[in-house]
Amino acid sequence: LSTTEVDLSKIEAGQGVVTSFRKQPLFVRHLTPKEIAEADAVPLGELRDPQTLADRTKPGKTNWLITLGVCTHLGCIPLGIHEGENRGQFGGYFCPCHGSQYDTAARIRKGPAPKNLAVPPYTFSSDTTVTVG
Ligand code: FES
Repeated sequence: LSTTEVDLSKIEAGQGVVTSFRKQPLFVRHLTPKEIAEADAVPLGELRDPQTLADRTKPGKTNWLITLGVCTHLGCIPLGIHEGENRGQFGGYFCPCHGSQYDTAARIRKGPAPKNLAVPPYTFSSDTTVTVG
């Protein structure tokens, strides 16, 4: 199976890029300190699919949120990876198909989707390079 390399060096905090991983959209988002704080402030009991931001990122790298860009309802591509797009009321991603809303850790918060955006297997091959897959 193929892997995807992502260069993080040009992605500023608050920005994100879309690439692809095994023919699916892959969202790579550089979270701001405010977005991290918002994610960490949510009690797990409020979550439909309870995971912390730390569960969904790598140790010491919680500012890099890497997920599939595939809504867990019926597979649309959510909005929000680019600055200025509708990120919904939880500041993460908004799926325009049926209104699922994800928070800054890409966890499902509202709408019909059952699960958080999926985190694929990946490793940091250097401080600024990630290998997905
Ligand atoms: Fe995203 Fe239905 S596919 S809300």
